[in-house]
Amino acid sequence: MRVVDLFFSPYDYEFHNDPYPLYARLRAEAPVYRNDELDFWALSLYDDVVTAFRDYAAFSNSNGVMIEPSVWGPDAWKFISFLAMDPPRHTRARGLISRAFTPRRVAALEPRIGEIAARYLDAAVERGSFDFMADLAAALPLDVISELIGVPESDRPEVRRLADQALHREEGMRDIPPAAAEAGLVLTEYYLGLLRARRCAPAEDLISALVDEGTIGVRLTDEELVAVLFLLVGAGSETTTHLLGSAWYWAWRNPAQRDAAFGGNITGWIEETLRYDSPAQVVARRAARDLDLHGARVPAGAQVLLLAGSANRDERAFPSPDVYDLERDTSKHINFGNGPHYCLGAALGRLEARVTLGQLVARVRPGYDIDPARMSRVHSVNVRGFASLQTSVTPR
Ligand code: HEM
Repeated sequence: MRVVDLFFSPYDYEFHNDPYPLYARLRAEAPVYRNDELDFWALSLYDDVVTAFRDYAAFSNSNGVMIEPSVWGPDAWKFISFLAMDPPRHTRARGLISRAFTPRRVAALEPRIGEIAARYLDAAVERGSFDFMADLAAALPLDVISELIGVPESDRPEVRRLADQALHREEGMRDIPPAAAEAGLVLTEYYLGLLRARRCAPAEDLISALVDEGTIGVRLTDEELVAVLFLLVGAGSETTTHLLGSAWYWAWRNPAQRDAAFGGNITGWIEETLRYDSPAQVVARRAARDLDLHGARVPAGAQVLLLAGSANRDERAFPSPDVYDLERDTSKHINFGNGPHYCLGAALGRLEARVTLGQLVARVRPGYDIDPARMSRVHSVNVRGFASLQTSVTPR
């Protein structure tokens, strides 16, 4: 299906500001959208996105999931490890990492997450006015991943700076900016040093478990291990950051829902935010063969974008999808993906959100404010959320 006056590019700043009207048009007018200029196809209906997540024989991850030209291709696994693999290679690699990334290791992090959240919140709540993103939401998830991986506390600010730089995208640039690529190289060197150090002197952390053949059953190369660390940092930090920021923002915009959240429905707050304003908006797949979809033929080898942010607002799957409602049934949302690549860190992301939002509810009054003049969005093709969100709170 081709619709001439409908233009969708995940690089557009206007789209970043509010993608939902465009998604609604895509679902209604072009469920199999074709962008000739950028050479991609896009699926926006809930059923199609779920099918594509599950049907790895038709929708392959072998070129990665990021659309930028320099990270799309057969080498993508070097940046995002098994997220850029299909079964059976994916099954084996994910299985090995899962032996180190255990539910027990995740659950054991809860007290540390509480301490990290308290440290940021002590300072912020005392000031009364703070940037929810810079002073809390952007910092905490990366600290938690660093804690899990085993990055020493003294190195974390620099690791955070490099990771932020590596994930930053420039307006008008349709590829990875040179500064981001450079930061990625510096981070690689840093992680290689950490791997070497843990081989000589193991500690109680994920890196030590990953380099221990006894734990995961094989010896992974340094290149494979660095890719796993990049995947954990890339997949686990920004997404959780934006879940926190969007939860804070949408509750403020919907006072009745905010009261429900502050009344104790933290789970509903997290799950409805994941559905309503998904941190993970867009992932890519490669058509493994010619695909016939809604009357269009998507040729083998084509890049196909799965618009999870649109699927979660599809009126066919969620009644009144544009209403933010903590009480609704969110069990079908696909913000953590679906099928073989279902998010390995879903439990950790939810735990971080539960601990952090729980502490906020316990410490501040529900009537907090956000300054619209000091609020800005990030510009990314994959994730959606805020770069800054100035808020003022009154301690309880
Ligand atoms: C709210 C927070 C999070 C969201 C919304 C999220 C979302 C997602 C999504 C949509 C996928 C599937 C991507 C695809 O199929 O192309 C995914 C995969 C993944 N996520 Fe998360 N994620 C979150 C938190 C985390 C955390 C905290 C970690 C770990 C530290 C993590 C680690 C991973 C990994 C390793 C994969 C790849 C799984 C595979 O390929 O088998 N995520 N995530």
